[in-house]
Amino acid sequence: MARISPSILAADLTELAREVIRVRDADYLHIDVMDGMFVPNITFGVPIMEALGRLHHPPLDVHLMIEDPSRYVKEYAALGAKNLHVHVEGNYHLHRLLGQIRETGSRAFVVLNPSTPVSLLDEVLSCADGVLVMTVNPGYTGQEFIPEAAKKIDVLDRIRTERDLKFEIAVDGGVSLDNAQDLVNRGADILIMGAAVFRSENPSVVVRKIKELKR
Ligand code: DX5
Ligand code: ZN
Repeated sequence: MARISPSILAADLTELAREVIRVRDADYLHIDVMDGMFVPNITFGVPIMEALGRLHHPPLDVHLMIEDPSRYVKEYAALGAKNLHVHVEGNYHLHRLLGQIRETGSRAFVVLNPSTPVSLLDEVLSCADGVLVMTVNPGYTGQEFIPEAAKKIDVLDRIRTERDLKFEIAVDGGVSLDNAQDLVNRGADILIMGAAVFRSENPSVVVRKIKELKR
């Protein structure tokens, strides 16, 4: 069964508590931390994690789009990040960083921008809990899905079978009810969805439909 991680970047932040209730049956809640350096946009960070700590919510799935994420992994893990996503790009010591994340007890995911090849991960796939394939250039919700980037899901799925590895495959950016089944068929385990969930008429229906998808 597919798992869903709604991204609060697309939620109505004036109603955060109510928005979180609307997706309470989701598998995760996705938090896009952006610093205006690694990506053009600035979003939110520790204060929103603390606010969420006072609400009931699905386990947190934290996507760090910041320069030198190693500075923050301990803090976000302590704030309840079940999954911590760090980008390959610009990370000189990815192997060390994945180890540091796992030491905190969080699950370590590595993220590939649309232009970054899977081959850069060859040496770290055995020490990652998952790989996140970006199907938009990170920075904003509501962007158009990039089909070429999704082909990396096929490649990763083949590699995990061939090498008998257990990492999960997540996909983020422009995911909707229209392309979800195809992404699951290719091998995606976790679908991260912003606009398609929070800007729909009924987010809980979208959550249920995604959770029912089978490969
Ligand atoms: C983009 C973020 C995504 C974004 C997804 O940089 O990483 O998580 O919120 O939003 P949609 O699903 O609307 O593309
Ligand atoms: Zn994200």
